[in-house]
Amino acid sequence: MNHKIVLLWTFLLCLSSAAGGNAVLKGEDEGFDESPINHKPVHGMIKYNMRKNLDLDQEGCYLQTGNKACLEECGFNATAKTIFIIHGWTMSGIFEAWMAKLVSAVMQRESNANVVVVDWIPLAQQLYPDAVNHTLAVGLDIASMLDWLQEELQLPLKNVHLIGYSLGAHVAGFAGDKVKGILGRITGLDPAGPMFEGVEEKKRLSPDDADFVDVLHTYTREALGVSIGIKEPIGDIDIYPNGGDVQPGCALGDLLAVAGNFMEVMKCEHERAVHLFVDSLMNKEHVSYAYQCTDPARFKKGICLSCRKNRCNNIGYNARKMRKRRNSKMYLKTRADTPFGGYHYQMKMHVFDRKQSQNADPTFYVKLYGGDNDTGNLYVVHEEPIGLNFTNTFLVFTEEDIGDLLKIRLSWEGETESFSSLLKGFWNWNPTATKPVLEVRRIRVKAGETQKKFAFCAQDPSKTEISPGESITFVKCRDGWEVKPRKRIPM
Ligand SMILES: *[C@@H]1O[C@H](CO)[C@@H](O)[C@H](O)[C@H]1NC(C)=O
Ligand SMILES: *[C@@H]1O[C@H](CO)[C@@H](O)[C@H](O)[C@H]1NC(C)=O
Ligand SMILES: *[C@@H]1O[C@H](CO)[C@@H](O)[C@H](O)[C@H]1NC(C)=O
Ligand SMILES: *[C@@H]1O[C@H](CO)[C@@H](O)[C@H](O)[C@H]1NC(C)=O
Repeated sequence: MNHKIVLLWTFLLCLSSAAGGNAVLKGEDEGFDESPINHKPVHGMIKYNMRKNLDLDQEGCYLQTGNKACLEECGFNATAKTIFIIHGWTMSGIFEAWMAKLVSAVMQRESNANVVVVDWIPLAQQLYPDAVNHTLAVGLDIASMLDWLQEELQLPLKNVHLIGYSLGAHVAGFAGDKVKGILGRITGLDPAGPMFEGVEEKKRLSPDDADFVDVLHTYTREALGVSIGIKEPIGDIDIYPNGGDVQPGCALGDLLAVAGNFMEVMKCEHERAVHLFVDSLMNKEHVSYAYQCTDPARFKKGICLSCRKNRCNNIGYNARKMRKRRNSKMYLKTRADTPFGGYHYQMKMHVFDRKQSQNADPTFYVKLYGGDNDTGNLYVVHEEPIGLNFTNTFLVFTEEDIGDLLKIRLSWEGETESFSSLLKGFWNWNPTATKPVLEVRRIRVKAGETQKKFAFCAQDPSKTEISPGESITFVKCRDGWEVKPRKRIPM
């Protein structure tokens, strides 16, 4: 075993004594062996807490494999959906605050469903490698519970959805693999990476574990050579919000981070998967889309905003089943807080070099004017220098719904008006200095969320050139505003 993994997790375990947690959804206070090496049989150490109402202080009731009285007492409805929620490795030994939020969101969205919290805390509150070692046994226990429900109540497996966070995602995978039949769905919320990355499919969550396996990856950044969330795609669809690494709103001090800070960042990014899922349950009207792409760099360039042939999907609970694709990697950008969804635009513009621009390396900003609202100046992200005499593609993301896009202002270094006027002043003051001049005649725009395409032309046809400190305004081209699919636009 990789000793770095042990080091990392031992480090985290030591920190955990300092970290508090919200005690919600407490299980029965049963004594259990706390010794880190725990090879006792798991039977009786896993509890199935069926939630009966939204009041989370109420204990709910417990299902037991083979105990029919419990089913009746709990009011288990065999024709309704059955949703199991499975936690991951725990340092604190109590449910963290996200659990109550997820349970409550599931119950509000699916009021008829049997919502069951799988409590394997005694087996999860161990040194990480020991907790990993228990995942198969916990998965087996869940599978025998489901097999019994199938026998006893003819529970249709297609109505069963397992939602597992971190290590819990792999537990769900084992349950789906071992159960007699095929589960409807498994959702993996940032499935754990250490000791699962790169292992064969049988030993981790994989597309064969349910009819539909969807995975959210939110913390796939390496530290000490391991990634807390698994990096490789392991479901039918694998969604990497914000590239799956740096999540907005989870400030990162990186190397400077003191231990406590590091913990906060880790928790924030790892747990973001749960909050995105909760968001998808609660904000049914505000659906976020993810777009299939071969890698995050291409997505950042705005190349992948297509929905043709199932290339896009809703994220979280609203994801549509796409069984034929395996390991389909999908991307989106999100806001820093709920509602997390935003708006993606692909912008294509041919940038002509008109004068002295070989080394200009322009910094572009766009401001979008919509039917309902305008954006601020948005930096046009580009990893490589902007190509001159070349058609560039950019991804522009807005947090607000601005309605129909009506007008675009493209500026060169336009973040602050004062800086723009400073630059202008420089060229006025020193007219002999060679001022770089670029030209942009049209911007072709595709809105990811609506899949609509438009061509934008310079509002003033004589003003298509741009220098530092200047801007060009574009409006929808007069010749047919909406671009018909496949029609070529002359540049
Ligand atoms: C995993 O658990 C089994 C018994 O359940 C034990 O024999 C084995 O040594 C454990 N492996 C590790 C790596 O702890
Ligand atoms: C059981 O669930 C089904 C499907 O959601 C629903 O139609 C039915 O009313 C439920 N039965 C009870 C007793 O709640
Ligand atoms: C772009 O094309 C123009 C005119 O053909 C030429 O003068 C200029 O050097 C080219 N610039 C670059 C960066 O290739
Ligand atoms: C317009 O957007 C700003 C943020 O850019 C926001 O504060 C404001 O509430 C929005 N107005 C409307 C009418 O949506």
